Amino acid sequence: ARVRHYKFNVVMKNATRLCSTKPIVTINGKFPGPTIYAREDDTVLVKVVNHVKYNVSIHWHGVRQLRTGWADGPAYITQCPIQPGQVYVYNFTLTGQRGTLWWHAHILWLRATVHGALVILPKLGVPYPFPRPHMEQVIVLGEWWKSDTEAIINEALKSGLAPNVSDAHTINGHPGPVQGCQSQGGFNFKVEQGNTYLLRIVNAALNEELFFKIAGHQLTVVENATPVATSFTDSLRSLNSNTFPALVPLKIDHSLFFTVSLGINPCATCANGSRVVADFNNVSFVMPKISLLQAHFFNISGVFTDDFPGKPPVMFNFTGTPPANFATTRGTRVYRLAYNSTVQLVLQDTGMIAPENHPIHLHGFNFFVIGRGIGNFDPKKDPKKFNLVDPVERNTVGVPAGGWTAIRFRADNPGVWFMHCHLEIHTTWGLKMAFVVDNGKGPNESLLPPPSDLPEC
Ligand code: C2O
Repeated sequence: ARVRHYKFNVVMKNATRLCSTKPIVTINGKFPGPTIYAREDDTVLVKVVNHVKYNVSIHWHGVRQLRTGWADGPAYITQCPIQPGQVYVYNFTLTGQRGTLWWHAHILWLRATVHGALVILPKLGVPYPFPRPHMEQVIVLGEWWKSDTEAIINEALKSGLAPNVSDAHTINGHPGPVQGCQSQGGFNFKVEQGNTYLLRIVNAALNEELFFKIAGHQLTVVENATPVATSFTDSLRSLNSNTFPALVPLKIDHSLFFTVSLGINPCATCANGSRVVADFNNVSFVMPKISLLQAHFFNISGVFTDDFPGKPPVMFNFTGTPPANFATTRGTRVYRLAYNSTVQLVLQDTGMIAPENHPIHLHGFNFFVIGRGIGNFDPKKDPKKFNLVDPVERNTVGVPAGGWTAIRFRADNPGVWFMHCHLEIHTTWGLKMAFVVDNGKGPNESLLPPPSDLPEC
């Protein structure tokens, strides 16, 4: 395995899209930012130098960060932000990982323009588990707002309502020709008839679920065993070969049930007298003032409480009469797990305001998606249909609108691990929480100490 060095200069850059120009926060002046290439088991060192007026932090989305939570990146969860003028080196190893991941800013709404792909090739000499393509291309899908994205979120928080949707979608940073701006080119990729191309597709959009197709062509999913087109998500299976065995936990230590909900709370300072809030199990998460990981590692009390509820306060009945469970509590509450304990988590959308597909992302782990359904999760019948043989392994999964998704994982990574909806506005409204995984007793079962350049708050 090799060590790969990257330098990320966080700089402002003027960008012209939709026939108008605005300054944006970028890495090395690029939008999207540079692609990081590495091989399985390589170590990656990224030196981030902050030249802008905003605090920044970078998350390596999908990198497991085994025992290196200090390099995970979510601001106030695993680190204090990198302040203007400061430098922080993210140092992590891609242990047993391969495929297409990505990286993005993990503070405020900076990830609108601060993101890029992270491509992990197989070890040298190891072929792909599918026929070799003629060429590869990274496709990063994004959004573009004509005005400043930080201003848009601040506006939304003041009003208590949803933020403006983006003015355009982008492929590798380029919107196609739109009304009023026909001159812009869009993204072009030249192909030759009869050749096979591998596309590594990342949805970096802040607030939208996106779908991808190429007119007149058939796409084959190669990351997993090929699904059938009619029930795409439900028929996804892992490759479950000897090389990629699915190690689904069969004995469960923590059986958790989280409702995923949007609600309305009173708000004295909001223009409408109320505001939208979002929560797991009626707890709308409050960001702490120093990072949870520091509080955990150094035993600093008063930063979080480890009483995050494993069940909602009122059992939710999606198809029947909704109970009066709009009331959210606010708190910096975490759920504590012993090292190597196993977790089953059922995520149930409540559709309180409007049913919506929530992409829930867990840091620090890959989990297995063992089941999914519409309506109420039935604890008697649904587990009988769980796929414990060849489920897909994921770091983000959609909880269907008005339905549920069940996942399993083993808590084999000590540290503090954020879980949140990847629709950024839902995270902002509080749809987030964290798991604390304690150290194990073995020699390689504890969180490593923080690096000396870890930013201070
Ligand atoms: Cu890609 Cu915590 O996010």
